[in-house]
Amino acid sequence: MTHARQHTIQVVAHRGASEDAPEHTLAAYMKAIEDGADALECDVRLTADGHLVCVHDRRVDRTSNGRGAVSALELADLAALDFGTWKGREDATESPDWGDREYTSVLTLERLLELVADAGRHIELAIETKHPTRWAGQVEDRLLQLLRRFDLADPAPDASPVRVMSFSARSLQRIEAAAPTLPTVYLTQFVTPRLKDGRLPGTTRIAGPSIRIVRHHPTVVLRLQQAGHQVHVWTVDDAEDIELCARLGVEAIITNRPKQVLSHLGRL
Ligand code: G3P
Ligand code: CA
Repeated sequence: MTHARQHTIQVVAHRGASEDAPEHTLAAYMKAIEDGADALECDVRLTADGHLVCVHDRRVDRTSNGRGAVSALELADLAALDFGTWKGREDATESPDWGDREYTSVLTLERLLELVADAGRHIELAIETKHPTRWAGQVEDRLLQLLRRFDLADPAPDASPVRVMSFSARSLQRIEAAAPTLPTVYLTQFVTPRLKDGRLPGTTRIAGPSIRIVRHHPTVVLRLQQAGHQVHVWTVDDAEDIELCARLGVEAIITNRPKQVLSHLGRL
């Protein structure tokens, strides 16, 4: 595979290896680690009893056999659900087997941090706070509390294995105020005048534009880079988009298919 520009891009597994395994489960993250992903992406939400769990949607309906909002359920309620069998149900001739029940149970952020700590190689973690404004700082407080327990909240500058991402500038500002050396990523799917100028909110140094922005407004990437920001693009699954990101020299791509992307980049 040839590229116009040689560049080592960090390959981040979006919700784990979520094309192959049920998103946000141990099965998906173990597959991503096995596939060679450099980093793992996860979304976090607070349960009714204050635990951070890795779930993308506000409700559990799409990705489990249960119903209801994550915020209205306790961890024990979530632990009784199956977050695996929905995956592949459409065209499967038989129920997919994702292994032991633990592999498709609700995944706490704590368990994911343990998995990364025990992976046996350097793996980074990109944690996205979902709907944090509703919780008036509780998501960030709990997140920092957990990161502190794993000694990850106050890294040496430019040497952090963890970063916090959000579409909410307010959420990032809370993190930046409490943990100034923890890197933050401002996610966006809109091209604002501020973004066109290469500016990010607060002290955020990493931009997380959607691939649509990168496709239609590549100059935005250049402005961000000129302003000294890293650029992490989501969600990059196709050859053309990988090539585009490589040409533009972005630092990270977030993908549902880490194995295929690594292979496309000539790293497998
Ligand atoms: O990594 C950023 C990306 O995950 C944001 O979109 O909806 O997949 O959380 P979403
Ligand atoms: Ca996400």
